[in-house]
Amino acid sequence: MSASRHQDWDAAASGEVIAAHAGQQGALLPILHALQARFGWIRDEDVPLIAQVLNLSRAEVHGVLTFYHDFRRSPPGRHVLKLCQAEACQARGSRDVTAHAEQKLGVAIGETTADGRVSFEPIYCLGLCASGPAALVDGVPVARLGVEAMDRLLDGALT
Ligand code: FES
Repeated sequence: MSASRHQDWDAAASGEVIAAHAGQQGALLPILHALQARFGWIRDEDVPLIAQVLNLSRAEVHGVLTFYHDFRRSPPGRHVLKLCQAEACQARGSRDVTAHAEQKLGVAIGETTADGRVSFEPIYCLGLCASGPAALVDGVPVARLGVEAMDRLLDGALT
């Protein structure tokens, strides 16, 4: 699986993304999603421009940005591994798989390894509940990700 690729951030490109969504109803979330999709994460530098364009305070923009765990405020790892933490996957062992991956990666879920290799993140239901534990690996859905399959993944594709 290939790592996700993002464009390098610069203020002009960021301004274009913000302007492209500014006219939408409830534009804040679409803007934040679009910035993250383009650049991989959302920089503090984006907040004043978003606030200005949407006529919101910086605190309002910052509040939304920090409320949703989906938004990344630091660079992602070369690979992004999102493991489902919702109920059906928990019933199929996702807690054990989470603990195993945390131990193997040396980070808690929600963090990025010190070498920048993997961001390990929670996700809540991918619609693969019958074949959990489910994950998104660099954007690709993966089912039945048990402890052994997680080992193979971390020792193979995610190196
Ligand atoms: S609960 Fe994990 S995919 Fe639905």
